[in-house]
Amino acid sequence: MSTSLVILAAGQGSRMKSDLPKVLHKVAGAPLLHHAMRAGSALEPARTVVVTGHGAGLVADAARAFDPDAEVVLQEEQLGTAHAVDQARDALAGMSGDVIVLYGDTPFIRPETLSAMVAARAAHAVVVLGFEAANPGRYGRLVMADDILERIVEFKDATDEERSITFCNSGVICADVGLLFDLIAEVGNKNASGEYYLTDVVEQARLRGLPVTAVACEEAETLGVNSRADLAAAEAAFQASARHAALEDGVTLQAPETVFFAFDTVVGRDAVIEPNVVFGPGVTVETGAVIRAFCHLEGCHVARGAVVGPYARLRPGAELAEHVRVGNFCEVKNAQIDTGAKVNHLTYIGDASIGAGTNIGAGTITCNYDGVFKHHTEIGAGAFIGSNTMLVAPVSVGDEAMTASGSVVTSDVPAGALAVARGRQVNKPDLARRMMERLWAAKKKLTEGKS
Ligand code: UD1
Ligand code: MG
Repeated sequence: MSTSLVILAAGQGSRMKSDLPKVLHKVAGAPLLHHAMRAGSALEPARTVVVTGHGAGLVADAARAFDPDAEVVLQEEQLGTAHAVDQARDALAGMSGDVIVLYGDTPFIRPETLSAMVAARAAHAVVVLGFEAANPGRYGRLVMADDILERIVEFKDATDEERSITFCNSGVICADVGLLFDLIAEVGNKNASGEYYLTDVVEQARLRGLPVTAVACEEAETLGVNSRADLAAAEAAFQASARHAALEDGVTLQAPETVFFAFDTVVGRDAVIEPNVVFGPGVTVETGAVIRAFCHLEGCHVARGAVVGPYARLRPGAELAEHVRVGNFCEVKNAQIDTGAKVNHLTYIGDASIGAGTNIGAGTITCNYDGVFKHHTEIGAGAFIGSNTMLVAPVSVGDEAMTASGSVVTSDVPAGALAVARGRQVNKPDLARRMMERLWAAKKKLTEGKS
């Protein structure tokens, strides 16, 4: 049976105090919206509808960046969660099977939890996701009678007795798609907020004699972001679990609390991550690689046995083969570095490929940018690039070729050749000493003139 998703992302998020729509703020390198869409995508939804409102254009772009097939609908006025879901009515017309409603600002719902809800649908018309709240605050309360969910009462509308309930509504709901829109059509707004509450579909279903239940998840999954403090708490929660998972997977983290992972970081077993390393999106580090202290990696691949850093930056498209070394104060972007090659000190390698076993001397720069276009540098295997070589791309250096240190290489170097591209050294006998004597004499004359 097919499942569709509706993701609510129309809210303003005024407490974020931001020009950016709330759901576009990032946790672990990805917008909150993408986290929600990713959780839902595990169900292989037949259709995904994102309900936008505040910042609709930007939110729509982000939704389509994650899933080009996502349908985006606009909720012009935010009249409540039922009204928000109702905006997806046309986009889901003709669909059969289930629909799951998620919030775009709630990033940690696990796919397994959604699967459990879908499974519970076999015996229930509507399934709500609840959680035992340590501090129930203003959450909607789930009024249960054994395993039947009687209704959901919003905090504002609840009696003192209902407020003492600690089993709360996460906001995630699953129902037959046709039924859900029928029930929403019956929801009114006569309540303390004057809003159309999605939570009221529970009571509507019960009035029809339909069975409704709640599936429980961990409170941590339901963490929603409404403020910068919540965003920081969400980041901290993500990092804590990512660090724990890395340790469980056999990765050495000397100071786990200083290592920051992205939502998709992959680190192989027996890799060592030293303190203060930041992973942006799209990084894979293979078995036994070492990322030394103070490195920043993004969109790159580090193969087995490679050693990176300390203080190195790997940018998107950096591909380090086995046993490559990239040392301190080196930056690598869009470049393939083949087996055992070394880029050890103070170097920029961009838009380049470097052959196996090649050594890149300190201070080498691939001059890849002419102000408008980017150009490629090709360096063969077993080559030796002398310190402080400028490789003015497009340019190539053949296998086992060398460049003299300080060279500005503007034309291709054939395999096996030595390129010397710098001014020839001339020594002027005694000139340094004579110059210094002249300068000191001039200074002495100046100070005597003043006293
Ligand atoms: C909602 C639930 C409450 C639950 C809580 C969990 C209702 C009536 N209440 O309350 O039971 O405990 O979430 O966090 O559903 N949104 C729109 N358009 C709207 C209104 C909301 O897109 O017109 C979006 C918001 O951007 C947000 C989500 O829906 O992502 C929830 O809305 P919010 O106003 O935060 O609902 P709560 O009052 O927190
Ligand atoms: Mg809320």
